Amino acid sequence: MIPKLPFLSLLGWWIAGSIAVQAQKRTIDQKVDSVLRLMTLDEKVGQMNQYSGNWAQTGPITGDDDKLQEIKEGKLGSMLNINGVRHTRELQQLAMQSRLKIPLLFGQDVIHGYRTTFPIPLAEAASWDLTAIERSARIAATEAAAGGIHWVFAPMVDIARDPRWGRIMEGAGEDPWLGAQVAAARVKGFQGTGLGHTDAVMACVKHFAAYGAAIGGRDYNSVDMSDRTLWEVYLPPFKAAAEAGAATFMNSFNDLNGIPASANSYLQRDILKGKWKFTGFIVSDWGSIGEMIPHGFVKDNYDAARAAIMAGNDMDMESRSYTKNLARLVKDGKVPVERVNESVRRILKKKFEMGLFDDPFRFCNEERERRVLNDPEHRKSARDMARKSIVLLKNQDQLLPLRTNVGKVAVIGPLAKAKMQMLGFWSTEWPDSDYIVSEWEGLRNKLGAENKLIYAKGCGIDDSSRANFGEAISAARQADIVIVTVGESRDMTGEAKSRSNLHLPGVQEDLIRALYETGKPIVVLISAGRPLIFNWTADHVPAILYTWWLGDEAGNAIADVLFGDYDPSAKLPVSFPRAEGQIPIYYDHFNTGRPALNDSDRFYRSAYNDLSIYPRFAFGYGLSYTSFSYSDLRLSSKSLDAGQKITVSFKLTNTGAYAGEEVAQWYLKDEVASLVRPVKELKGFSKVMLRPGESASVQFIIDQEKLSFYNRQLDWVAEPGTFELMIGSASDDIRLHSKFELRK
Ligand code: GLC
Repeated sequence: MIPKLPFLSLLGWWIAGSIAVQAQKRTIDQKVDSVLRLMTLDEKVGQMNQYSGNWAQTGPITGDDDKLQEIKEGKLGSMLNINGVRHTRELQQLAMQSRLKIPLLFGQDVIHGYRTTFPIPLAEAASWDLTAIERSARIAATEAAAGGIHWVFAPMVDIARDPRWGRIMEGAGEDPWLGAQVAAARVKGFQGTGLGHTDAVMACVKHFAAYGAAIGGRDYNSVDMSDRTLWEVYLPPFKAAAEAGAATFMNSFNDLNGIPASANSYLQRDILKGKWKFTGFIVSDWGSIGEMIPHGFVKDNYDAARAAIMAGNDMDMESRSYTKNLARLVKDGKVPVERVNESVRRILKKKFEMGLFDDPFRFCNEERERRVLNDPEHRKSARDMARKSIVLLKNQDQLLPLRTNVGKVAVIGPLAKAKMQMLGFWSTEWPDSDYIVSEWEGLRNKLGAENKLIYAKGCGIDDSSRANFGEAISAARQADIVIVTVGESRDMTGEAKSRSNLHLPGVQEDLIRALYETGKPIVVLISAGRPLIFNWTADHVPAILYTWWLGDEAGNAIADVLFGDYDPSAKLPVSFPRAEGQIPIYYDHFNTGRPALNDSDRFYRSAYNDLSIYPRFAFGYGLSYTSFSYSDLRLSSKSLDAGQKITVSFKLTNTGAYAGEEVAQWYLKDEVASLVRPVKELKGFSKVMLRPGESASVQFIIDQEKLSFYNRQLDWVAEPGTFELMIGSASDDIRLHSKFELRK
C-alpha cells in the first residue's frame, strides 16, 4: 500500500530527484572538463584516434609496437578487433601507464552475435518480432561485454532497396517504418538498462547516411538523392536510433550529393548534433577520412582531417589523419581548438558513463567471460530467433510440415553439411565450428537416426560441374522425400560483395531441375544474405523455405520448421525481384501518371514490355502452415480533425489446422498531397498467435503522426484530405480496405 503523500511532499521529492540527476549529470560534465583541462593538445588528439588490432591474435599482444607505444603515451583513445578479456586487460594496463591514465574504449563489429551467432540482421527483421530482435541484441551485448568489449559497431540501419548491394544482409530491409522499429529495438538491446552496467555496451548506429542507396548497388559508390528522399526513406531508422538513446554513430564511405559523409556537416552537425540534439560521438568508418582524397574532395590527409573535424566527425578510425595532422591544424590556426575540445568532451563523457574512469578493468573478468560465453540459454534464444526468421515462400498441396515417419529423406545440396556457411557474413570468427548445427545434423537430431537420411552433395555452390548430379539423382530415387539445400556461400553477400547476377549461383538450379525430374516430392531450402532470383524453382517446386543465414542453431531451427514444431511466421522485409532488370524494386513506390493496372496493361504505361513490374515475392509476404481470415473492419470515425485519433479494429481468425502467428500489416495511402505519395506505406503491424478456429480482435490507432510526411520545406506535416487504409497479410495481399478523411 503506497502511503498517500501530500502533493507538496511529492513535489519536494521530484525537485530533490531532479537536483540529484542534474548533480550526477553536472558531475560527469564537470569530471570531463576537469580531465580536459589537464590534457595537452597531443593527448586530446590521441583520444580521437582509433586503431584496429588483430582479432586472430591468440598469444600476448605483439607486432603492433608502434600502437602499443602510442597507448603508453596516451595517443590512442580506442581500439577495435581485440580478442577477449586477456588482451583487452593487457592493453588497458598499458593505457594506465600513460600520464593521465585515460582508459581505452574497445569496439567490435558485433552485428548478429558475439560468441553465439544469431541469424543475420535481415533474417531477424523477417521475424517482425521486435521483442525477439531486442533480446538477440541483448544477448550479443551481454556476451560482448563479458568478452571485454565496451562498444559494438551496430545496429546497421541502412535502408536497402537494391539487392545487388551485398550489405543488404546487415540491415532491416527496404521499409523506413519497419527499419525504424528494428533500429530502436537493437539499440535498446545493446544498451540494456543503461551505460554503466557491465552487461551494457555502447551502440553505434551506422552508416550515416544513405549508404544503401549506392548507385548501381555497387558498394562504396556515390549516392545522389533529394533531401526529401533522404528524410523520408533513409533517415527514419537513424532518427529512431538516436531517439532510443544510441551512444554513438558511424558515418559512411559514400559521398552524399557530392560531399563524402565524413566531411558532411549537413548530416553530422545540422541534423544529428543539431536538429536531433545527439550528445554522443561520431566515429568515421575505417579509413573514410583518408578516402576523401580518392573522392577528390581534398588533396591530402591534412585537408581531410580539417574537413572531417569541421563537419563534426569526432573519432578517426584507422586513417591516421587526425593523429598526424590535427595538432598541426590547430597550431596553424586552421582548426579552432574548441572543435577538438568538443570531440574530446563527447568521447570522455562516454568513457565516464561506461564507468571506465572508476574502474578501467570492470569489463575484464575472465570467470564472467567463460560463464557468459557458454550460457546454454543463449543458444535456445538463437534457435528461437532462427525459427522465427524462416520465410515459407511456397507450400503447394500442404507438402509441409513433414511427419517424422516420413520414411527415407534425401538431403541433397552443397549446403546440407555446411557449418561455417550457416553463420553468414559479419559473424565473429572463432577457431572451432563444432558448435554450429548443420542442416544435416538438425535433421538427424529431429529424426533420431541417420538411417533415415541419405546424403549427396550434388554440386558446389558456385562451380559449373554437373559431375555429381548422378549420385544426387540416385539418392533422390531411394528416398520418399527430397530436401534440396542451395544458396550462397557466406562470403557472397556482405561488405564489398556487390553482384550484378542474383540468380542461384553455379548450377544449383539445374540440380533442382534434375531432381524434380525424378518425380519425388521436393522441398527446397535457400540460404542467402540477400534476395536471390530462382524463377524456375519458384514456378515448379512445391515447397520452398528461405532460410537466410541462421547462425549456430541453423540446422535445428530448419528441422523445427520442416517437421512442424514451429509454424513459420516470418514475412519478407524486402522485395524479391524477378530479374536484375527490375532493380531498384520496392513496394512503397509512387503511382506515376501512367500506372500499369496489371501485367497486361502495358500500352504506353509505366511498365516493362518484356517482364512483369511486380516482384517475385512482395514485401511483407510469407506463408504459414495454417491460414487466416480478416473481417469486421471497424473505424471509430471516418474523419478526424488535427489532434484527433481514429481507433481501428478488425477480426483475425485462424481458419486452418495448425496454431500459428500472423503478422497483420496495415498500410496507408495519402490520396492527394502537395507532393506525390507512395501507393502504400507500412504504418504498423500486429503479430498474433492463434489456435485453429480461434479469433482475436486486433486494434490500432491512426493519429496525425501516422498521416504525416516531409513536405517541400521538409516540415513534418499532415495535410487535410482523404486517406486509404489497407490491412493485410502482405503488401500485395490486402484483405480489408477503408477510407477516412483528415479535416482541415
Ligand atoms: C568496415 C565497415 C563498418 C565496420 C568497420 C570496422 O569497413 O564498413 O561497418 O564497422 O569497417 O570493422
